[in-house]
Amino acid sequence: MLKGKKILLGVTGSIAAYKAALLVRILVKEGAEVKVIMTAAAKDFISPLTLGTLTKNPVITDLFKDDAWANHVMLGRWADLMLIAPLSCNTLARMAAGICDNLLLSVYLSAACPVMVAPAMDEDMWKHPATRRNLRTLATFGHHVVQVGTGELASGLYGEGRMAEPDDILKEIVGHFHQQGSLKGKKAMVTAGPTFEHIDPVRFIGNHSSGKMGVAIARELLNRGAEVTLILGPATGELQLEGLDTIRVQTAREMYDACHRAFGETDITVMAAAVADYTPALVAPEKIKKNEEDWSLTLKKTPDILKSLGQMKKDGQTLVGFALETRNERDNALSKLAQKNADIIVLNSLTDQGAGFGKDTNKITVFDRNGGERRYELKSKTEVAKDIVDYIMEYTHA
Ligand code: CTP
Repeated sequence: MLKGKKILLGVTGSIAAYKAALLVRILVKEGAEVKVIMTAAAKDFISPLTLGTLTKNPVITDLFKDDAWANHVMLGRWADLMLIAPLSCNTLARMAAGICDNLLLSVYLSAACPVMVAPAMDEDMWKHPATRRNLRTLATFGHHVVQVGTGELASGLYGEGRMAEPDDILKEIVGHFHQQGSLKGKKAMVTAGPTFEHIDPVRFIGNHSSGKMGVAIARELLNRGAEVTLILGPATGELQLEGLDTIRVQTAREMYDACHRAFGETDITVMAAAVADYTPALVAPEKIKKNEEDWSLTLKKTPDILKSLGQMKKDGQTLVGFALETRNERDNALSKLAQKNADIIVLNSLTDQGAGFGKDTNKITVFDRNGGERRYELKSKTEVAKDIVDYIMEYTHA
């Protein structure tokens, strides 16, 4: 199932490191070529000789050895997947912080391939807010975190934090490669972020959209092999845009024009941007000065981009909209689905805790025009993006 796949396995210092031997054995049995990097702490738990023998490749442990330098950049480029299993609390924290003080971390920071991690730690460490935060950070990098198991722990206590079993990790890896090329040859367009509608050279009407949800969807489509155009409003937060063909726009009108230029070619369009519904009727060429009077601004409607694309949509094109609601959520989402001639509407409610603007998590319900409806739990935006793309793929194959 993994024939020809190159997997770089990072092993860190955790009692679960003994499972790395079994993991390597099943990866090799499935046809993967495996190279192992170990941290110094990992060598206290399992011998490099064991893993080197099983992979038939020398295990790499040091950035410098004698007069040779381990080429961390080329190792990162060699791999189709970097898997860190077990991932200790310490290495997790270093990855989240971008610290580079051993070979494993240097390779990780240079890796151009997808990254999967299988954490292993005692329950108290697993539940510590610092660990939760670090895992969320890894999720925002687009890394895949394999669920930990519940059972007997190294401390002798029973609880959450055991590294997933090698068979379960194998299933996730196979699933990852299966999905990876599934959108090859498809063109996708995603809108993200707010729009800013200019009042004068210094003022605008905007909204709190961070662009994170749309960017996560664009990344997920890219990960699955689609050619993605991201049309991004003036989001100010830190966004992972590497590898995405990004067109920056400011206003609803500019977003409309960019979408219309790209739409004819696209197979999948996801409109995650929070587009302003109104824009100043006139943009003042000079800064508007205050005076003694109150001031009112005349606004005109912006074009509804999603609706206009819905009117142009041809067979074979899938159009996905979002609905951001604070009340009558289901009815409003369903009426947007019909009125805008979308195929799928993703509802997110601002009343859900942890969901919405600026957050790293979201909670969605998805509706489609065949009557499908699915509610999801609160998840990281990276996981939500996977659910949305899975839904789109199921819908297009239905
Ligand atoms: N949308 C759009 N163009 C607009 C306004 C919205 O393309 N001028 C898209 C959004 O990107 C989203 C969907 O329409 O995919 C729904 O946006 P939302 O703000 O929830 O609804 P509106 O249609 O603007 O209606 P209302 O604000 O009254 O809820």
